[in-house]
Amino acid sequence: MGPLSGKPALVTGASSGLGRRFASVLAGAGAPVVLAARRVDRLRELEGEIRDAGGQATCVELDVLSETGVTAAVEAAEVAFGPLAILVNNSGVSAQAKIVDMSLDDYDRVMNTNARGAFLVAQAVARRMIATGTPGRIVNVASVLADKAMRELSAYCMSKAALLHLTRVQALEWARHGINVNALCPGYIRTEINDAYWDTERGQAFVQTFPRRRVGEPSDLDGALLLLVSGDARMITGTSITVDDALSIA
Ligand SMILES: NC(=O)c1ccc[n+]([C@@H]2O[C@H](COP(=O)([O-])OP(=O)(O)OC[C@H]3O[C@@H](n4cnc5c(N)ncnc54)[C@H](OP(=O)(O)O)[C@@H]3O)[C@@H](O)[C@H]2O)c1
Repeated sequence: MGPLSGKPALVTGASSGLGRRFASVLAGAGAPVVLAARRVDRLRELEGEIRDAGGQATCVELDVLSETGVTAAVEAAEVAFGPLAILVNNSGVSAQAKIVDMSLDDYDRVMNTNARGAFLVAQAVARRMIATGTPGRIVNVASVLADKAMRELSAYCMSKAALLHLTRVQALEWARHGINVNALCPGYIRTEINDAYWDTERGQAFVQTFPRRRVGEPSDLDGALLLLVSGDARMITGTSITVDDALSIA
């Protein structure tokens, strides 16, 4: 039992990094959690961990690039635990290159995963929330780079800016259905998406420019996540919470 018991949650990108943490935190608060990503072996491992800790979890294979795959995953999630009350729309990829060097393949992969993919998942989930009359919470995992420009991450910055603005439109369209939609904008958190970089000379020098001279841990996002999915967030919609150690205002 916990504050989220009886509130089924879908977490995309639960096979690593932030998504893995988000899923564990929601399960720890009592939510039955559906773990979604392409690497099902990793999801199964997490499912086992959550169950061993007394939580409820199941896995569905999901590639957010596939429209039919997204619909099928959302259906499977609902079959497992009933109508979804929470979506953490977290799957994302990055590609580092100067604009003049970036391939169209990398551009498409980043935009199609982070913007189109997140659009499709939220669309499929909201359709079901509306059809089943389930009030819901959607957390789109954007980034401080939705707003802050960063060299060599053009497609990533564009995709997160799109997701942040999509969050506002979703909040407007779905407010009357009792669905609150917000963005969570992390600063730099050490995960597989950036792990190798922090050990390079360039990465270490970059950290020294941060106000707190540190890279965050996935657990640094727990409080913001739990607020956004809670009943206390009833009037919080169409906005974002930045969790970045003051990086974006430095
Ligand atoms: N770490 C940071 O500093 C930071 C900062 C701001 C925002 N973020 C955002 O936080 C989110 C999670 O990133 P992370 O740091 O945890 O990185 P990560 O460890 O690389 O995790 C990315 C997740 O996205 C999933 N994914 C990628 N492509 C997918 C696809 N086509 N379909 C379904 N799932 C897909 C991956 O699962 P599979 O490969 O198994 O499919 C993986 O679970 C991303 O949206 C990222 O942009 C991260």
